[in-house]
Amino acid sequence: MDFKNGMAARIEEIESVIKSFLPKEKGYQKTVIEAMNYSVLAGGKRLRPMLLWETYRMFGGDGEEVNPFLAALEMIHTYSLVHDDLPCMDDDEYRRGRKTTHAVYGEGMAVLAGDALLNYAFETAISALSKAKDAGEMEKVSKALAILSGKAGIYGMIGGQNADIEAEDKGAVVSEEQLLFIYGYKTAALIQCAMMIGAVLADAGEEQIKKIENCAYNIGVAFQIQDDILDITGSLEALGKQTGSDEKNHKATYVSLKGMEEAKKEVERLSKEAMDILGSFAERNEFLEALVEQLITRER
Ligand code: IPE
Ligand code: IPE
Ligand code: MG
Ligand code: MG
Ligand code: MG
Repeated sequence: MDFKNGMAARIEEIESVIKSFLPKEKGYQKTVIEAMNYSVLAGGKRLRPMLLWETYRMFGGDGEEVNPFLAALEMIHTYSLVHDDLPCMDDDEYRRGRKTTHAVYGEGMAVLAGDALLNYAFETAISALSKAKDAGEMEKVSKALAILSGKAGIYGMIGGQNADIEAEDKGAVVSEEQLLFIYGYKTAALIQCAMMIGAVLADAGEEQIKKIENCAYNIGVAFQIQDDILDITGSLEALGKQTGSDEKNHKATYVSLKGMEEAKKEVERLSKEAMDILGSFAERNEFLEALVEQLITRER
């Protein structure tokens, strides 16, 4: 199977798992549930569940214990996007090829849909505990839950979004160190979350998990720099979101700080670094390595 077909097959599998965990649109909660599902089902690259699953496979995992975590992680990522697009944040009108959640359901409902996705993510992931067959599995799932909550929170994605907001309008005085903090947390944290949970559920050792965390940091920072590049060079049609968001919001980005050429080089350098780390394991996953490589030239 070539890479493109492999990717399409995986997205289909991931989406069917995600759908199996989504709440039913009924009851007096119907509207907020519709708003949740609207954003989750809009599509998206499903990169985080894919990285989770492929890291799990790399370390020899082949069970269904990953399923609730695949869905939970995509719910958390989607909530971060719903809130990121709000008028009080990046104020964007398109996401995943559709009008943003607040544009369709109103701001109040978009805030609630984001909150609900975050909460439902934990309701979903915690369900893995009741399926654990022994103390060892229980411990593994608990560890995965701790990673999920930590990497999504103030010492993870939310911490990065905090620094991102504070850096607005400060273009010239944002240092490279500050920018790397923003990227390391707002974006790389959920990528680390994905790959670390995959490693943990497949019983990888502490040392391997540390290496995976580092590998995912490189992938995550490269991914955000490429996102900044595409915010300038891409199109609504290709990205499913409007370009020019960073300029509109006076965000400091790797491109505004270092220029387009340097930014492209850094995406490549960080991705190669990540591929080197993947290549250093005794366990290999060719698809995962190819996935990281194609992120360098991604156009969406
Ligand atoms: C967008 O993430 C937010 C960033 C961290 C840059 P993705 O580019 O993975 O968005 P979807 O999931 O494909 O819509
Ligand atoms: C988003 O960064 C990171 C999140 C945690 C959502 P951006 O604000 O650059 O993401 P896009 O470009 O809106 O997808
Ligand atoms: Mg943002
Ligand atoms: Mg944004
Ligand atoms: Mg962006």
